Amino acid sequence: MLRVNNLKISSDKKILVNEIDFEIKKNQILSIIGQSGSGKSLTATAIMGLLPETLNKSGEIILNEKNIMQLKDKEIAKIRMKEMAMIYQNPFNCLVPVMTIEKQLKYIYKIQELPYDINRIRTLMDEVSLPLEYLKKYSFELSGGELQRIVILMSMLFKPNLLICDEPTTALDSETGLRIINLIKNLKDEYGMSVLFISHDLQLAEIIADKVMIMQKGNIIEHGDAKDIYNSPKEDYTKALLEASKF
Ligand SMILES: Nc1ncnc2c1ncn2[C@@H]1O[C@H](COP(=O)(O)OP(=O)(O)OP(=O)(O)O)[C@@H](O)[C@H]1O
Ligand SMILES: [Mg+2]
Repeated sequence: MLRVNNLKISSDKKILVNEIDFEIKKNQILSIIGQSGSGKSLTATAIMGLLPETLNKSGEIILNEKNIMQLKDKEIAKIRMKEMAMIYQNPFNCLVPVMTIEKQLKYIYKIQELPYDINRIRTLMDEVSLPLEYLKKYSFELSGGELQRIVILMSMLFKPNLLICDEPTTALDSETGLRIINLIKNLKDEYGMSVLFISHDLQLAEIIADKVMIMQKGNIIEHGDAKDIYNSPKEDYTKALLEASKF
């Protein structure tokens, strides 16, 4: 489903992502784990086709047989949300405070040049376990967990093949976070999506992911089945990450 070959991202001063390779199969969750600054979000941003012009990039990102690195901005805009969608760490930043949730949903359909589909939204509100009345609310009337459910609903509107989650639970308490994790897992199974799940937390990755990739300073230093890496990490860095996630 998603294949990344030799992805390299650099600024004028340094290499930020160093020729990494990985793939995510259909219905599979790959977790990227690494410290702050290791290049996780840049990798996700590259897949979404949103890297700033100021960075140099090379390599291939193949999604549904198209190389995103070679598509024009307009072509990428067409597949964003429809073939790939992203959810972020802080749901408060993803919504506009002056519009109701419903109005924001209508706006998304408008941008996508599609008719507003209330049936699809009803189904999704049910899937993310929120009452329909919430559509009339403003984002500041919702809790962090509820908002993240709305953001997930928005990401699922057009049934993307790839969902990228960049630390989607860090702004939430652990119980709410776990519910969000289970929701993502269920949606993945229902829609047969590929999921790229970015986190600092190896323990969390073991719960959600099929495969885990450990990143350090732009390099992938360990890559394999989540259970194997969790139970017998090979690199000292991975062992340290595991210790850190136990607190
Ligand atoms: N537009 C940019 N120009 C120059 N350097 C950048 C740019 N964006 C990111 N970087 C640098 O690239 C490195 C990797 O950043 P990235 O955001 O991918 O880290 P991360 O692994 O997601 O970290 P965190 O866990 O804190 O989110 C960092 O050193 C960052 O300062
Ligand atoms: Mg990041």
